Amino acid sequence: MAKINRKRAEQLLFPIISENGDSQVGGEKEKGFGDPNFSRNKTLPIHRWVPWIAGFSSDFVQSALDGFLRNKGTVLDPFCGVGTTVFEAIRNGHNAIGFEINPYAVLASRVKTNAYCIDLGVFASTIDDFQQFYTEKISTNYKPISTPPQGFKTRTSFYSPRVLYKVLIAQDFVHAIDDENIRDLFRLAFASTMVSYSNYSYEPSLGRRVSAGREEIHDFPVARAITDKLTDMAEDIAWVQEYIERNNLDIRIIGDSFFHCREHLLPASVDLIITSPPYLNNYHYNRNTRPQLYWLGYAHSPDDLKKLENLNFGKFWQTVRDFDRIDLAFTLPQTDIEERLQMLRKLNKEKGPYGGNGWANYAAAYFNDCHKFTEGIQYVLKRGGTALVVIGNSILQGVMIPTDEYFGKIAEAMGMELLKIDVPRATRVGNSIIQSDVRVGKAEVSHQLYEAVVVLRKP
Ligand SMILES: C[S@@+](CC[C@H](N)C(=O)[O-])C[C@H]1O[C@@H](n2cnc3c(N)ncnc32)[C@H](O)[C@@H]1O
Repeated sequence: MAKINRKRAEQLLFPIISENGDSQVGGEKEKGFGDPNFSRNKTLPIHRWVPWIAGFSSDFVQSALDGFLRNKGTVLDPFCGVGTTVFEAIRNGHNAIGFEINPYAVLASRVKTNAYCIDLGVFASTIDDFQQFYTEKISTNYKPISTPPQGFKTRTSFYSPRVLYKVLIAQDFVHAIDDENIRDLFRLAFASTMVSYSNYSYEPSLGRRVSAGREEIHDFPVARAITDKLTDMAEDIAWVQEYIERNNLDIRIIGDSFFHCREHLLPASVDLIITSPPYLNNYHYNRNTRPQLYWLGYAHSPDDLKKLENLNFGKFWQTVRDFDRIDLAFTLPQTDIEERLQMLRKLNKEKGPYGGNGWANYAAAYFNDCHKFTEGIQYVLKRGGTALVVIGNSILQGVMIPTDEYFGKIAEAMGMELLKIDVPRATRVGNSIIQSDVRVGKAEVSHQLYEAVVVLRKP
């Protein structure tokens, strides 16, 4: 039977605790926030299951919990991604709620927070069965029953024929698993590894390997990649079950837009919000997870992605650039937001929708969603409750947009208290706009990209 090492997950976690001294792990009061960057998560139990662009680190969430929620309470992440906040909140003994529109991320968050309920014996023996099934089928002339998702179109074959054959054998096994919880663990293990043996890669947007100067993958030990992931998952589940008390917590992952929060949550029901909405950088979570959405059966045609696109916080430049003009739906006296958008609007007119007007439309649509988001914060937070919002600034056509400051001002104008704006990390890489040729005077302008934590309180 697959061997589960309970200690290993614990050892993975331990360095963060000892690194920062006592149990605070960078407590907000003394040390400021931990770095919100996700990269440290890649080695931590549970968080290492699924990489997520612009996900934030568990250290950051821990420092936020230490600083702002001493007693048991309810923590909300309105844009929960793969569940970093939600899992850390549970680990610290709080009730936790997450909203997320991307079904692959919803699956990841649900599976992670369900770790308590997994029968580890059944999981371990199913991993063994998988290895046996695969070894037997690959060595015979087996014809897989599964087929690739029909609607999933790519410029180059997503998988080379040999890799596809192996993937389909794995799919046959996964589809036949009776226990839904165990099947979801396998689906997640496949989804989180599936790009690594494809002819595509994340740079950080999904693109053909050859375009990034990498070779196509003609063959790959697919079952080993999936089994390695499953083994990590089993170890982490064993660690969760042994070291984290469940304490009858209320845990909800809501697969819907936070803009519909009134349909799901009571007013004034949340103590602390820790979140990071999509940035004003046009990073396309939905397009970049097309392989997972199609292969997991969440998308069947471009219409399914369109639906997600329409729900997405901040919209996308591609969906608003052609409008004559999108304006702010609110006024924000004592800021230069109107002037800055106006300045942007006038730039590069000769480029039509690719010039300043298209980007000003995108920025205005983004801030209109910041306004709607603040309404949601006000609705769900208890009086005296805090919201920590990690947000990155942006540079559009050479114009720096201090997103954090404007968001803070929007919240203030709507009656929230702006406690502070903290900048734990002053450089950011991987912004998709930087890498596109529609970008910003070809980076002649030396504005710095940063991420800030906007700290708000509901009076
Ligand atoms: C910056 S990521 C958050 C990552 C998260 N902090 C983590 O560690 O995984 C933003 C997330 O917001 C989600 N999202 C976008 N619009 C949304 C909406 N209207 N309601 C809920 N989630 C949304 C995106 O799918 C994406 O996963």
